[in-house]
Amino acid sequence: MSTQNDAEAAQVAPDTMDTDAARAELARLADIIARANAAYHSDDAPIMSDAEFDALRARNDQIEARFPDLIRPDSPSRQIGAAPSEGFAKIRHARRMLSLSNAFTPEDVADFVGGIRRFLGLAPDAGLAFTAEPKIDGLSLSLRYEGGVLVHAATRGDGETGENVTANARTIRDIPTPLTDAPDILEVRGEVYMAHEDFTALNARQAEAGAKTFANPRNAAAGSLRQLDPGITAARPLRFFAYAWGELSAPLATTQSGAVARLASLGFQTNPLFQRCDTLAGLLDIYARIEAQRASLGYDIDGVVYKLDDLALQERLGLRSTTPRWAIAHKFPAERAWTELTGIDIQVGRTGALSPVARLRPVTVGGVVVSNATLHNEDYIAGRDSRGGEIREGRDIRIGDWVEVYRAGDVIPKIRDLDLARRPKGSQPQPYTFPETCPECGSPAIREPGDSVRRCTGGMICPAQAVERLKHFVSRAAFDIEGLGAKQVEAFWRDGWITTPRDIFTLEDRFGPGQPRQLKNREGWGEKSAQNLFAAIADKRRITLARLIFALGIRHVGETSANMLATHFGTWDAFRTAMSDAVQEDSAAHADLLAIDGVGPVMARALVTAFEAESDAIDALATMLEIEPAEARATDSPVAGKTLVFTGTLERMTRAEAKARAEALGAKVAGSVSARTDLLIAGPGAGSKAKKASELGVEVIDEEGWLRLSKGA
Ligand code: IVH
Repeated sequence: MSTQNDAEAAQVAPDTMDTDAARAELARLADIIARANAAYHSDDAPIMSDAEFDALRARNDQIEARFPDLIRPDSPSRQIGAAPSEGFAKIRHARRMLSLSNAFTPEDVADFVGGIRRFLGLAPDAGLAFTAEPKIDGLSLSLRYEGGVLVHAATRGDGETGENVTANARTIRDIPTPLTDAPDILEVRGEVYMAHEDFTALNARQAEAGAKTFANPRNAAAGSLRQLDPGITAARPLRFFAYAWGELSAPLATTQSGAVARLASLGFQTNPLFQRCDTLAGLLDIYARIEAQRASLGYDIDGVVYKLDDLALQERLGLRSTTPRWAIAHKFPAERAWTELTGIDIQVGRTGALSPVARLRPVTVGGVVVSNATLHNEDYIAGRDSRGGEIREGRDIRIGDWVEVYRAGDVIPKIRDLDLARRPKGSQPQPYTFPETCPECGSPAIREPGDSVRRCTGGMICPAQAVERLKHFVSRAAFDIEGLGAKQVEAFWRDGWITTPRDIFTLEDRFGPGQPRQLKNREGWGEKSAQNLFAAIADKRRITLARLIFALGIRHVGETSANMLATHFGTWDAFRTAMSDAVQEDSAAHADLLAIDGVGPVMARALVTAFEAESDAIDALATMLEIEPAEARATDSPVAGKTLVFTGTLERMTRAEAKARAEALGAKVAGSVSARTDLLIAGPGAGSKAKKASELGVEVIDEEGWLRLSKGA
């Protein structure tokens, strides 16, 4: 059929098509749907009715369902809604994009202010100014200007690397270019968001066009910014508030408020509710006032951000692994709704934790339809807290109850309360019995003393744990292997193709070209997709130390801790050796592990246990990889790579600041003096550590010496 016209093509059922016909038809549909889209969105002059448009898209979907190998990169099914991330080039941020730690109560805010005072060694009555501004519920964007011209725009991504969305950012009216009188290099950071009225109108247009509607303005903003076709972004009403910056060739000001004013004078929108304030009570007052205005602002906000105003003090406070010590987000209380609990399912996670999931009659909570929520653990269902005290006056949650669901930001919805008056009277529901065996593998599920979670003891025998660990291993913040998502991992696991992380890296040897069984012959796979997967896997043999540590899926070791451990140890060998050496809890290596900022006894135990229990699997994996050492934070400093110990009283800065500064200069700070110590900084009153240092021949300096060394760096 070489002279197919549209009507004829539409008559061939996908089931009876051959591959060539399907390929040609998908190309034709991609082209005509793209033209219809451009006409509708960019030219505002539709070339077909909505019903015709819908029919073309439906046909495209049917053919793709039958021929998944033929799905085109520019397929219409991938164009609307969130664009696939592989469509964007990556950009490495010149300075990391940070996130914020959260405060939920006035006490948390008081701790934040108090912590800063302690860190800086300030008296309780010494003046300290802050700024307060709404926390915009959108997505953050970094804009790089060189010579006043916008050269690129990148999403946050994992904070280190984001997606290049420059063409799309150029279509946003609030993003000015060129700038006059800007520093030669200027990275402006802020939030892309969608106003309520624009969101409502967009959803109405989408619904009319039979296209996907968005659950909330944030999703709409994200979906609109991450479009492969900037024409679509241009047709979406996105806005931008500037509130921070990255690399600069010249400072914007000496204070946060001055810098924000400068951004405004350069032509950026800054939030009109931004204020300066110099007391804790004042901050809480601003919070209450912003919260009261929340519903009438016309855009979503989810809290108030406080930042220390003085930029020199911000610099002194520095960062934890991914969050600054000088800022915090004070979140608004969550949004709530009542609904019926229709069931409780138990999910088994990668650490074996049995997590109860509430199945709910669907209900809208803060604009999002919720049908599942977490019930935390068995105590929570029973109306007890982790210490055996009562919660909800001891009322337990039963299937059939009316429950109050709440959600805050992006987190999983939770159950807050239940309404006993609405408990069904006739067939009184029974108290829920939490399983004592794993629903996935039947192994006993036990609770360690002091642990609120019941865990499956099946380890890698348990299919749920094995699969969840593999899913975690390939997830975005870990190995992030394109084409190997949760679905594929499950399928490979089921067929025994991949049972441990190492197997991923031998997949090509076992199921690649020339093998009796080949990936390309599996259902849903083909020559090209198989090749792509092998290439994607080969590409990830080179991995950063931080990602590898995170990917191991050790309990209590999240992304932040993995980053911190990588920075501390620098290389896989150093980390690996320390994990074996620290097995004995009274060893110097164990003490050193505990001395790392952010490592407590629980994490230390989880680390050594994981390395003890799985040393073979971990080492087998490591041999397959090329592990990039963590970037030393400051290789040219005189203390980079050295191990320091502080002892005695410091008079010019607090111990916390000294330690943070040393770490920022690339040094490790240990808690005790050993043969591995390079330098002891001893203030007045130094005792046994100074003695031990002199016995071991370790260099000792005083606080003055430390100031010269760290300032001169
Ligand atoms: S400051 C130094 N200010 O919240 C920290 N962030 O949870 C840089 N956000 O990734 C962020 N409104 O996307 C800052 N007024 C505001 C904000 C804000 C929204 C977002 C931002 C960030 C996230 C952190």
